[in-house]
Amino acid sequence: MNFATVRGLNGGSDLPTKAKKWAELLGVPYIERDGNSSLQFIMQSYNLDCLIVATKNGPQIFSEEGKLFYHPGMAVLRLQKLLRGERDNFVEACELQAGSRILDATLGFASDAAIASYVVGPEGCVQGLEASKPLWFLVKEGLHNYVGEETELNEALRRIETVCTEAKVYLKTLETTVLM
Ligand SMILES: C[S@@+](CC[C@H](N)C(=O)[O-])C[C@H]1O[C@@H](n2cnc3c(N)ncnc32)[C@H](O)[C@@H]1O
Repeated sequence: MNFATVRGLNGGSDLPTKAKKWAELLGVPYIERDGNSSLQFIMQSYNLDCLIVATKNGPQIFSEEGKLFYHPGMAVLRLQKLLRGERDNFVEACELQAGSRILDATLGFASDAAIASYVVGPEGCVQGLEASKPLWFLVKEGLHNYVGEETELNEALRRIETVCTEAKVYLKTLETTVLM
């Protein structure tokens, strides 16, 4: 995927520094934003699939499909249900319990990973693989910085480890004994 980073507008003087740092980390170009030029214009001028925009609310993905910020989504409601002592089909199907080790090979917005992380707790381990570099970065930053009302969720998000990789490639690096 062809992408770059750029500063958002109206967010503070540190946004260019953030966008530059992210570009370095991701190994993609940082685009100096000329005045108030639109994101659409920048994307077309540089022939990009999307942009990672440094905003005061963290990274945003801008593409033809629209704008994306990190949000835990359904994980919030699912966690509230668990806190009330109700059941979660995913937790039951995977027979998750404190101390379990989970690999989510299609991390996406990490809803399932968040629930898994809450259930397995600090003694367990949740790792998530995401092939899309912009999405991996957005979610990695979100998991690190998101602050919601439920402390349990905030803590569970911080414990998730993420890897930007195609699942098949990563799975081949694991020792057979780990998979058994
Ligand atoms: C439907 S979402 C997963 C939803 C997620 N499990 C959740 O709970 O929110 C699918 C995600 O997996 C990623 N993906 C699909 N195939 C993949 C693969 N072979 N390796 C790594 N990531 C993959 C996609 O980029 C997408 O972000």
